[in-house]
Amino acid sequence: MLSDEELLEKAKEASENAYCPYSEFPVGACILYKSSKIFKGCNIENASYGLSLCAERNAMSSAISSGETSGIEKIAIYSPKSPKCFPCGACRQWLQELSKGENVKIVLENDDGSTCYYYINDIFPYSFKLI
Ligand code: THU
Repeated sequence: MLSDEELLEKAKEASENAYCPYSEFPVGACILYKSSKIFKGCNIENASYGLSLCAERNAMSSAISSGETSGIEKIAIYSPKSPKCFPCGACRQWLQELSKGENVKIVLENDDGSTCYYYINDIFPYSFKLI
């Protein structure tokens, strides 16, 4: 299984593809699924600002579009502009739903370049569900 450091390195690679001329805040995400497949995503902005897409949801969209059906083991998120680049509220809701019941590990980078992690159930408790 990919280490946290290896997954974060791939999130860094993904952040290099970010299209963010408005915020100039690149974000990259890399998700490791239970199937051992990985999917990367970057943020994509638009002149109509509200249409901008987050890196994490792009990575999940790519996975679902590719037919990935397993749960999410862990996700690494990176921005060169901010240490500990936590997922926004919308991405937390997506992660919770598409995790397939897994308590997703969220890997981030500290100020000093070391990794740290949190779990979705801790940073997004009492989430909205239809059942
Ligand atoms: N952004 C992400 O890609 N992921 C998040 O979880 C939060 C924010 C992006 C959206 C926008 O392009 C830029 O960061 C600044 O908000």
